[in-house]
Amino acid sequence: MQQVRIIAIDGPSGSGKSSVSKLVGARLGFLHVDSGALYRIMTWQSLEHRVDTANPDAVAEFAQKLNVDFAAKDGAVVFLVDGEEPGNRIRTPEINQHASEVATVKAVRDRITGWLRGLTSFGDLIVEGRDITTAVFPDSPARFYLSASAEARAARRQKEEVEKGIANQSAEAVKASLLARDKIDSTRKYAPLKKADGAVEIDSTYLTLEQVVETVLAALPRDWTNGEVA
Ligand code: DC
Repeated sequence: MQQVRIIAIDGPSGSGKSSVSKLVGARLGFLHVDSGALYRIMTWQSLEHRVDTANPDAVAEFAQKLNVDFAAKDGAVVFLVDGEEPGNRIRTPEINQHASEVATVKAVRDRITGWLRGLTSFGDLIVEGRDITTAVFPDSPARFYLSASAEARAARRQKEEVEKGIANQSAEAVKASLLARDKIDSTRKYAPLKKADGAVEIDSTYLTLEQVVETVLAALPRDWTNGEVA
């Protein structure tokens, strides 16, 4: 059997991971996996079950119990809680505020890493997150680190929140929350966000989405791109 191919993309919030991963995945026929959504689901469900997200022991215990189902749909692996996709319920400022602390808990990371590795049963994947290149799939030959200035990232996130009707925060408030999360994500003890040795770094501040997509495609192993790259 041919080995499953994994494209791994890490980077901070608003660096463009989701848009880039969806487009590259669609071009190559690799299913898109948004690993951040699993951390958001863990956070949302903890809050729904009145678990104190500031108490790592309570969160660790809850992490063992939570069940998530997986299905392939419209070019992505979707996550189901009690048979339903969570949608924008996991994209609120409240979840943003608590997700980073939930993501510091080792039992949470271990459970989600196990789920992500299991998704290879669906076939070729493009997986985005914070520790995909360093901890979840460190052996992939296609690993990328996306970055962008804090201003560019905050502006993208704010536009997205307003367009999707999730929240109406000022650009300053969005930037402050994003920087606070970056700090927790990159200084935590287990699997912090960092550029992996050997990962291709792409600074998207002044690039269009299409330019970033082309840069990723051009850096992939030749036989992965089906002639997509000239
Ligand atoms: O990408 P996002 O904003 O949806 O991620 C939500 C939170 O989960 C964020 O605090 C970072 C964390 N996360 C993580 O620790 N590891 C991942 N692989 C993906 C996300």
